[in-house]
Amino acid sequence: MREIIIESFGTPDVLRLHESSPPVPRPGDVLVSVAYAGLNPVDHKMRDGSSGLSRMLELPAVLGRELSGHVIGAADDVDLASRGLAIGSPVFGVRTDDLRGTYAETVAIRAEDVVTVPGAQPDLRTYAGLALAGSTALTALEDDARLRPGQTLLVHGGTGGVGQLLIPLALQAGAARVLATGSAANAGRIRELGGEPIAYDEEDWVARVREETRGRGVDAIIDLHYFSTFLPSLDVLADGGRIVAVPTLADITPAQDRGISAHITRMAPTRGRLELLARSHAEGLLDVEISEVLPLAEVARGHELLETGHTRGKLILEAHA
Ligand SMILES: NC(=O)c1ccc[n+]([C@@H]2O[C@H](COP(=O)([O-])OP(=O)(O)OC[C@H]3O[C@@H](n4cnc5c(N)ncnc54)[C@H](OP(=O)(O)O)[C@@H]3O)[C@@H](O)[C@H]2O)c1
Repeated sequence: MREIIIESFGTPDVLRLHESSPPVPRPGDVLVSVAYAGLNPVDHKMRDGSSGLSRMLELPAVLGRELSGHVIGAADDVDLASRGLAIGSPVFGVRTDDLRGTYAETVAIRAEDVVTVPGAQPDLRTYAGLALAGSTALTALEDDARLRPGQTLLVHGGTGGVGQLLIPLALQAGAARVLATGSAANAGRIRELGGEPIAYDEEDWVARVREETRGRGVDAIIDLHYFSTFLPSLDVLADGGRIVAVPTLADITPAQDRGISAHITRMAPTRGRLELLARSHAEGLLDVEISEVLPLAEVARGHELLETGHTRGKLILEAHA
C-alpha cells in the first residue's frame, strides 16, 4: 500500500510517497481502508518540527491525524459487532495520543478513536474533515469558553477548519450573537454560517467590536489566529469574560496578569463528541466546506496551502487517488 512518510523534519519537500506493507492491528485496533484523510495545521507543524508532538515522533513517520474510510478488519480482541461496527462499515475519527498517522491507504487505529458514519450514502470527504476540527470547536466552547445561552462570542478566524464548525456549534449552544473576524473575501461565508462578519483587513476590528457591544465587550473570545489578535482582544472582553487561544504555542500570561480567565485549548475528542458531530452533520446542521481534495501524492501542495494560514474550510487528501 501507499503512504506518505517523512524521514526528517523540514519544508514540504520532506513529504515522500512510500510503498509499504499494510499495518498489523495492535490489541484494541481496527483496520481501516482510508477513503480520505483531513489536513490540519498541526500536520505541517509536526512536519517542520515546531509542534510539541514532533518530539514524540519516531522517524520515519507517517503524518496525519484524522480520516474517513471503511472497516476492513480488527485485532483479535476487538468484537466489532458489540461496537456496532461490521466489515465494510463507513467510519470517521481522529487519533488522540496515538502518533501513527493517517496519510495512508490503510491504517490500524484504536477502535475507540472511530465512530460510524450515519446515513445511506454519506459523503466521506466531509467526514474526513469533521473529527479534529469539530472536537476542537466543542472543547474550546464547552470546556474552555464555557459559553452560556444568551451570551455573545467573538471568534477570530471564522471560516477556517475550526471556525466554520465553531460558529454554528456556538449558535446551537444558545449564543445570542457570534461576531467573527475574517478577511473581507470571507464575509459572505461567515454570514452563511450565522455569524456577524468583521473584516480584519478592511476595518478596525477592535473599534467595531466595541461599537457592536455598545462598549461592554463580548462574554467570550475564541481565538483561532492568536498572533495579531490575542493582545488587542483583551480590551474587548466584558468584565468576567473568558478568552481561549486555540493555537497551542499561545502565551496567555498577559491575560492572566490582568486577572482575565484565559485558556489554551487541548482538543479532547470523546465518542460522545464524535457522535454529536456526525449526527449534526448528517442532519444538515453542520456544513463542512471542503476547499480542495488532493490526491495522496500531492500532499506537499496541501501543506503549502495550509501554511498560508488563509485556507477556507478544509483541505482533504484522497487516499486511493
Ligand atoms: N489546541 C488544539 O487542540 C488545536 C486543535 C486544532 C487546531 N489548532 C490550531 O488552531 C488554529 C486554527 O486551526 P484551523 O484548522 O481553523 O486553521 P485554518 O483552517 O488554517 O484557519 C485559519 C483561520 O485564521 C484566519 N486568520 C488569518 N489571519 C487572521 C487575522 N489576522 N485575524 C483573524 N483571523 C485570521 C483565517 O481567515 P482568513 O482566511 O479570512 O484570513 C482562517 O479562517 C491553528 O493554529 C491550529 O494549529 C489547535
